[in-house]
Amino acid sequence: MPLFVLLLIVLFRPSSSSSDILTASQSLKDGDVLVSEEGKFACGFFTPGNSGSRFLGIWYAEIPVQTVVWVANRENPLNDTSGVLSVDFQGNLVLRRGNGSTLLWSTNVSLPSVPSSSSPVVRLLDSGNLVLYENADENFIRWQSFDYPTNIHLPYMKFGMNRTSSFSWSFTSWRSYDDPRPGNCTYKIDTAGYPQAVIYKDGRPYFRVGSWTGSRWSGLAKMDPSYIFQVNFTNNEDEVSFTFRIINESFTVMLELNETGTIQPLNWVNDSQRWVPLYTGPNNPCDYYNQCGPNSNCDPDVNNMCSCLPGFEPKSPTNWYLRDTTDGCIRKNGNSICHSGEGFLKIPNLKTPDTSIAIVDLSLSLTECEQACLNNCSCVAYASANDIGAGSGCLMWHGDLNDSRKFSGAGQDLYLRVDAAELGRHSKNKIQVIMPVLAALLLLLVSFALVIKRRRDLKHTKELDRTGKPYSALPCFDLNLIVTATDNFSIVNRLGQGGFGTVYKGVMSDGTEIAVKRLSELSGQGDAEFRNEINLIAKLQHRNLVKMLGFCLQDNEKILVYEYLPNRSLDIFLFDESKKSVLDWRKRFDIAMGIARGLMYLHQDSRLKIIHRDLKASNILLDETMDPKIADFGMAKMCCRDQNEGKTRRVVGTYGYMSPEYAMGGLFSVKSDVYSFGVLLLEIISGRKVSSYYDKDSFTGLVGHVWKLWGEGRSMEIVDESIELKDARSREEVSRCLQIGLLCVQQLATERPTMSSVVFMMGNGLLLPLPSQPAYVLRGDDSMSGNNICIGPDLYTIPASVNEITTSTVKGR
Ligand SMILES: *[C@@H]1O[C@H](CO)[C@@H](O)[C@H](O)[C@H]1NC(C)=O
Ligand SMILES: *[C@@H]1O[C@H](CO)[C@@H](O)[C@H](O)[C@H]1NC(C)=O
Ligand SMILES: *[C@@H]1O[C@H](CO)[C@@H](O)[C@H](O)[C@H]1NC(C)=O
Ligand SMILES: *[C@@H]1O[C@H](CO)[C@@H](O)[C@H](O)[C@H]1NC(C)=O
Ligand SMILES: *[C@@H]1O[C@H](CO)[C@@H](O)[C@H](O)[C@H]1NC(C)=O
Ligand SMILES: *[C@@H]1O[C@H](CO)[C@@H](O)[C@H](O)[C@H]1NC(C)=O
Ligand SMILES: *[C@@H]1O[C@H](CO)[C@@H](O)[C@H](O)[C@H]1NC(C)=O
Ligand SMILES: *[C@@H]1O[C@H](CO)[C@@H](O)[C@H](O)[C@H]1NC(C)=O
Ligand SMILES: *[C@@H]1O[C@H](CO)[C@@H](O)[C@H](O)[C@H]1NC(C)=O
Ligand SMILES: *[C@@H]1O[C@H](CO)[C@@H](O)[C@H](O)[C@H]1NC(C)=O
Ligand SMILES: *[C@@H]1O[C@H](CO)[C@@H](O)[C@H](O)[C@H]1NC(C)=O
Repeated sequence: MPLFVLLLIVLFRPSSSSSDILTASQSLKDGDVLVSEEGKFACGFFTPGNSGSRFLGIWYAEIPVQTVVWVANRENPLNDTSGVLSVDFQGNLVLRRGNGSTLLWSTNVSLPSVPSSSSPVVRLLDSGNLVLYENADENFIRWQSFDYPTNIHLPYMKFGMNRTSSFSWSFTSWRSYDDPRPGNCTYKIDTAGYPQAVIYKDGRPYFRVGSWTGSRWSGLAKMDPSYIFQVNFTNNEDEVSFTFRIINESFTVMLELNETGTIQPLNWVNDSQRWVPLYTGPNNPCDYYNQCGPNSNCDPDVNNMCSCLPGFEPKSPTNWYLRDTTDGCIRKNGNSICHSGEGFLKIPNLKTPDTSIAIVDLSLSLTECEQACLNNCSCVAYASANDIGAGSGCLMWHGDLNDSRKFSGAGQDLYLRVDAAELGRHSKNKIQVIMPVLAALLLLLVSFALVIKRRRDLKHTKELDRTGKPYSALPCFDLNLIVTATDNFSIVNRLGQGGFGTVYKGVMSDGTEIAVKRLSELSGQGDAEFRNEINLIAKLQHRNLVKMLGFCLQDNEKILVYEYLPNRSLDIFLFDESKKSVLDWRKRFDIAMGIARGLMYLHQDSRLKIIHRDLKASNILLDETMDPKIADFGMAKMCCRDQNEGKTRRVVGTYGYMSPEYAMGGLFSVKSDVYSFGVLLLEIISGRKVSSYYDKDSFTGLVGHVWKLWGEGRSMEIVDESIELKDARSREEVSRCLQIGLLCVQQLATERPTMSSVVFMMGNGLLLPLPSQPAYVLRGDDSMSGNNICIGPDLYTIPASVNEITTSTVKGR
């Protein structure tokens, strides 16, 4: 090694430290950095944006976009590079300007007396926490940056309040993106009444994130990314606090409070090298604190979003009708609601009102809560504190009910005290509620009886698998029963033909309808293996998956028995001019969401991690309420044995729905299913088959057409003309779904979202990433698209298309 290189090393090593520890005798100058042990975080001096000022801070060391998570000298910027961080003689970590004595920042821990034996050390941990330890043994923490957060909530950091000392772990926004000085927004847990998380702007409540209901904050419709976050909420006499952790350590997620008062969990997406928000709050007008004034209810889904709670009327009617709702509502004609035959109205799906004035008793049940509220004349409403299970704990309001809003399909029940007249007005509706309940109960009894009867028809077989454990008893149907039920597989009962066999409708002797799938010879699988496989697949249970009732393995027949769904499959409605209007936008959205949930379950929630490989409209069945159920899942697993590798010799699937990496290279992964889902989503929105828009010049089909329109800003033109988009919310949802569809069909599998992100993106108003170039399996042969095929080295293609649900089965090469 040349001498001068050695010299360089010797010269530069001491000055540019990159260890994770700073001892009492060392100092950190501008240009030096502390790097945490695994290299996740770095601590040193930085210049935010174009500010020209220097600050001491902590940032993600592995992320190329400067992402500062903590700043020390927020109040006292440096105008040069003379800053020095060191431990002073009192054992405090201090930041000074150069050699001088100007103190810019200090940990300022006052200790009665500093033990002479003390030799403090500072260490930057891989959590992003900068810790000042009393001694080198690192047993006693004197100070840590996690206790003094700036605008970023990192995993493991505490958010809340120490009730004993009133010390608050809270966040303060930057002033602007290049100015870390404290801005006007703070995010903290307010412990008055029942604790709630609130974002304040200029000291006034701006967005009440709400109180903790056991699984989410009451002000967020959903906070259900249980696959991302693990959350701890503590509320006892010592402290109220909230911490979270990321379950999968390979994700990098943090929560940011930005200078406009917006809170967002941000996820670092390495592929696109940027932070992507998982959701955004506030994200609609009803989120702003007390948008409609006291005693009102804000519903973002209706035109005139403000209304008074039952029993209340606008306080200033003229202003109210001119949409100035700040005065809110007052009780109608000053009616007394005390001990005069009054009662409670249940108002569902609400963000419960401001709990800063609520009286709390966590030991009461909901019934006891009602009594307690009824007994006190000033109590105007009550609700459960905790939503888990049947609900527990009691919140009672005395005074104005501020800042409630309605969620669609989420939120809590609020029980509002109203006078006898108001109660009478609403009790009519109650009867209407009770009738369907009774009917449903009756139906339940009948179906129960049927189930019991059917059980008698089944021949249960208990056999042992190779390990000697009995099979979990998936009923084995007698072949004769099935032959009778389907009228000897009569062509009249044929429902369709899928990739793996023909499906027939059957009627059992008790009248129960079933769907019978008679598998073709395709699998070449031994009976034991087959049996094993279906028993595994039968364990997959989800409301959006078709339920398997049993099987039959007899006389060389392999038969699967499923529940029968009278509305058949999605394609029957979606692509039929006379039937498509049955599916309005709301229904289509629900269907898409149901499919996404079912697929997410297959991909990650079930232990088996099933890749469907042939998701398409005809494989989505609809029940009597038109809720979707995915069919044919797990079939690929049975049909093509080599499916456990990432590369398969046989391709199972349907052109048009198949991702290019799968169709061409046989490479498959959950992302191939995501591709199919994207195509399906675009079909649901447009009411057109993926094979539409094929012509001589472009073989890109629906996907290419949507992409082209998207590029021209005209993507809404693709929306099915039979859908009426009545309000802004539906239009927003459609455009969101179009974008999600395009994200799913992106060319690079790695760029496509996972199904859990899809579900999340569909359910939240968060900002979506921009899609990049989609992939289409180029195929001019229109007769092939829409057909299910199986090809492989020992197989060749025999196109055998007859109609939509026909298969081209393929044999030996
Ligand atoms: C930097 O700040 C110090 C103290 O406020 C001041 O004396 C000095 O003139 C400033 N230097 C520049 C270049 O602005
Ligand atoms: C500290 O002071 C000494 C002597 O005044 C000077 O040589 C040195 O450059 C100063 N260091 C810094 C960082 O200002
Ligand atoms: C240190 O804390 C004391 C009281 O706790 C306060 O008066 C003082 O201003 C603080 N000093 C700094 C440098 O923050
Ligand atoms: C809360 O504050 C008290 C009093 O200062 C202290 O003894 C206790 O350790 C603190 N609790 C937490 C969790 O920091
Ligand atoms: C924040 O405070 C500054 C200074 O008080 C003010 O100029 C600015 O308008 C405020 N910003 C917002 C968004 O209220
Ligand atoms: C939540 O609490 C459990 C049990 O006390 C603990 O093991 C876990 O580390 C905590 N998680 C976080 C994010 O603090
Ligand atoms: C964590 O996420 C990575 C990338 O998304 C994935 O490969 C890995 O299997 C996940 N690990 C767990 C335990 O879920
Ligand atoms: C703060 O977040 C909101 C929501 O994403 C965004 O619209 C806004 O531009 C952000 N503000 C800044 C200054 O980044
Ligand atoms: C992140 O992306 C970069 C380039 O885009 C790549 O070099 C790096 O390996 C990726 N890191 C991880 C952990 O995937
Ligand atoms: C009703 O509740 C309020 C608030 O908790 C309390 O101040 C008042 O004493 C109660 N009245 C009666 C009669 O219990
Ligand atoms: C409710 O809101 C009004 C006006 O926004 C305010 O004056 C009042 O103090 C609030 N009451 C409670 C209990 O928060």
